[in-house]
Amino acid sequence: MSQRSLELITGNATPDLAADIARELSVQPTPARIGRFPDGEIDVQITANVRGADVFLVQSTCPPVNDNLVELLIMIDAARRASAMRITVVIPYFGYARKDRKDEGRVPITAKLVANLLTKAGADRVLTVDLHAAQIQGFFDVPVDHLYSSPVLVRHFLSQGLENLTVVAPDVGSSKMARGYANRLGGQLAIVDKRRLSGHEVAVGAVIGDVKDRNVLLIDDMISTAGSITEAARVCAEGGAISVRIAATHAVLCGPARERLRDAPVEEIVVTDTIPVDPTGLPNLTVLRIAPLLAEAIMRVHTEQSLSVLFSRTD
Ligand code: R5P
Repeated sequence: MSQRSLELITGNATPDLAADIARELSVQPTPARIGRFPDGEIDVQITANVRGADVFLVQSTCPPVNDNLVELLIMIDAARRASAMRITVVIPYFGYARKDRKDEGRVPITAKLVANLLTKAGADRVLTVDLHAAQIQGFFDVPVDHLYSSPVLVRHFLSQGLENLTVVAPDVGSSKMARGYANRLGGQLAIVDKRRLSGHEVAVGAVIGDVKDRNVLLIDDMISTAGSITEAARVCAEGGAISVRIAATHAVLCGPARERLRDAPVEEIVVTDTIPVDPTGLPNLTVLRIAPLLAEAIMRVHTEQSLSVLFSRTD
């Protein structure tokens, strides 16, 4: 057992999730004042002693992404200047991840920039869930524990005992993830031929695989404007699926997302609470708790135990 105290500090992005993690860990969150100066600048003060402590800062960089990111950077700086022994940033949803390569001229690699900012500010470790691309781990020169929400989602769908299941990837990028779900849920795999037209529009072609007379589960890492997953749902429904369910780890839900989800031909929308979700107007929404997974990971980091057991477990 670590001799250092575990201090859990939450920013303004995911306070309910942080409180849930604290309950799972049976710790009281470390008090901190995270507010604004009159001109909008962020003001942070950790109001308890964290000298020599093992500090965990919980903050998703979800919308408003720039505010939440800068808040996290300032929290790291405050913890470092308060002489924390180690600072782990717990980022349940890591935003800015979709710009992870230079695929056109004169564009940034924003995921790398954010990784640099976090480590330069003083983060010693990163704990995150379902990065948009696993290789973003390599953008950090500090240890990254990359958890998957699949044990949580798989458990939910196993409890439904779905038969004649086809797990569908809404695009080629999600196919590896979908194959993993198909294996664990005992279903077939199919892939939707998707092309992105702009940040909020997609063009969807055929489904490659079998969806006729099948129960379909569409799985993705995130639902942002919901264009990808609702268009894929429509194609599957038109292709003769018996039922369509959709699931994703991160419910970013921006722009027309809520309207698209409300109108989609789906029985159930399943997400986790890596980002706070307002269920209003979405009666078929199920939000699964990610706190037990994160709490166990935090405790394992704190006590220097392996985290590999968390990557495959579905119990
Ligand atoms: C794409 O690569 C991602 O996995 C998601 O499919 C995409 O980011 C979702 O965006 P939207 O909901 O805006 O279609």
